[in-house]
Amino acid sequence: MRVSILFGSEMGTSEVVADCVADELSAHDVSVHDMTDLRPGDLDVADFHIVICSTYGDGDLPTGAEFFFDLLDAERPDLTGLRFAVFGLGDSVYGDTFNRGGETAAAKLVERGALQVGEHARHDASTEIRAKDMAREWARALPLSTCALIGR
Ligand SMILES: Cc1cc2nc3c(=O)[nH]c(=O)nc-3n(C[C@H](O)[C@H](O)[C@H](O)COP(=O)(O)O)c2cc1C
Repeated sequence: MRVSILFGSEMGTSEVVADCVADELSAHDVSVHDMTDLRPGDLDVADFHIVICSTYGDGDLPTGAEFFFDLLDAERPDLTGLRFAVFGLGDSVYGDTFNRGGETAAAKLVERGALQVGEHARHDASTEIRAKDMAREWARALPLSTCALIGR
C-alpha cells in the first residue's frame, strides 16, 4: 500500500525519524514529505499517512508544520476516509505542554474527518531512548496490513 510520511520539524530530529520510518516500511510504496512544502490539497485519502511532529514554543506546532495546519484550518477539506498515525516528539522538561505538537496535529486531522489508528507515540528527549530507535519499533507495530485489507 502507499504510505505517505509527513514530518513537521524545527531542528531536524523529526526529519531523521521520518527517514528511519521510511526505511523500516520500505516493503511498502513509501514517500516522505516536509510539511513546509505540503498543502492540504496534496493529501490523498487512499494513502496511509504517518505524521511525525515535534513541539516548540509553549506547546506549539514546530515552524515546519504551522503553515500546513493554518491552511487546513482555513480550507477545511473533507478528509473522511484518510487514515493516519502519529509519532510525536517532545521533552518532558516542558511539563504540561509535553508532546502537544503531535497531539494538536492529530486533533486537527480528526476534526476534518480523518481517522487516527495505531498507538500515538510520544518520544521524550529527556530519556536515553533515541527517537529513531523508538520510531522503528513503533513503525513495525503499525496496523498497515489491516488498513490494506479494508481497502486503504
Ligand atoms: C525552545 C524549545 C521549546 C520547546 N518546547 C517544547 C514543549 O513545549 N513541549 C515539548 O514536549 N517539547 C518541547 N521542546 C522539545 C522538542 O520538541 C524536542 O527536542 C524535539 O525532539 C525536537 O524535534 P525537532 O528537531 O524535529 O524539532 C522544545 C524545544 C525547544 C528548543
